[in-house]
Amino acid sequence: MSEGGTTRIPFVSRMRADDAASWLAALNAAMPGRQVVPLAELTPAERAAAAVAIVADPDPADLLPMHRLVWVQSLWAGVERMLSETQGAPYAIVRMNDPQLALTMAEAVLAWTLYLHRDMPRYRRQQQAAQWRQHPLALARDRRIGILGLGNLGKAAACALVNQGFNVSGWSRTASGFDGVETLTGEDGLDALLEWTDILVILLPLTPETRGLMDRRRLGTLPVSASIINFARGPIIDDDALLEALNTGHLGHAVLDVFATEPLPEASPYWKHPGVTVLPHISAPTNKATASRIVAANVEAYLRTGMVPPGVDRAKGY
Ligand SMILES: NC(=O)c1ccc[n+]([C@@H]2O[C@H](COP(=O)([O-])OP(=O)(O)OC[C@H]3O[C@@H](n4cnc5c(N)ncnc54)[C@H](OP(=O)(O)O)[C@@H]3O)[C@@H](O)[C@H]2O)c1
Repeated sequence: MSEGGTTRIPFVSRMRADDAASWLAALNAAMPGRQVVPLAELTPAERAAAAVAIVADPDPADLLPMHRLVWVQSLWAGVERMLSETQGAPYAIVRMNDPQLALTMAEAVLAWTLYLHRDMPRYRRQQQAAQWRQHPLALARDRRIGILGLGNLGKAAACALVNQGFNVSGWSRTASGFDGVETLTGEDGLDALLEWTDILVILLPLTPETRGLMDRRRLGTLPVSASIINFARGPIIDDDALLEALNTGHLGHAVLDVFATEPLPEASPYWKHPGVTVLPHISAPTNKATASRIVAANVEAYLRTGMVPPGVDRAKGY
């Protein structure tokens, strides 16, 4: 896959043309001496010879002619769609693991946790009713934040919350406790965490195991007036059960950045619900410059040494 001595790396996505063009510019700026080019520009021979491709939710059919594909570098951290569409494919999928993305997500989690901690939805409602009323302020150390998922993003979010003085615990598949954050595992661990939590932050990948995880029973396990922040994937929460819990007053507020259908349909009850803050999937946008440098480092290391970066475990689904 080289032309005039320059390695040409296929870029495969279903992005809008203008998005693809700005990604190509960022990737090429990060990889002097290589050429990242749209798949359509490669010759059939180049496609057949390609061992690595850079992808963003690619059409799986586009990857089929790349018989020698060893791995693909995804521009996204969440790859559930690609995993489900490429079952049985022989190549490895490497997710975006950008420390900047984790910092951006940690900033978002801190911002929206503070929004809930400082009762902003309630003071907003009071302002609309011209109501001057002060409520007791809980100390951050008495506010219990439960984080589901302590991976790249969950860990960074936990650190930001601990630094802000919150009482933080987390839940993950394997115990990976770290300073100041107790980690629970398993079904019992999840129930124990939910019973304890005032503000629940969801940062799990969407897998067959996490789809619908926050169902009616588990939402009911949260204490009365608890709140939820979902910055992971919409289908992790049962929407009907969440609306019911908000309507009955069992839950106080939900900050939702991700939905089963995106963009959120106009008819969704979430838009106008007083107990819901709707965000248009903006909690942690990928930064093209920093992400491109991560991609460049991974691809360069592979071309130099043949070493494939750690990939997604297809059996686990993340
Ligand atoms: N809203 C946005 O803008 C945005 C941006 C980027 C990413 N995301 C979403 O955030 C998700 C998380 O990203 P990440 O990079 O932090 O992923 P990650 O590094 O793979 O971490 C996933 C975490 O979830 C835990 N986990 C997975 N399945 C579990 C299960 N069945 N039971 C208990 N724990 C489980 C893992 O446990 P172990 O540690 O034990 O493996 C790990 O702690 C992505 O998949 C993506 O969907 C959203």
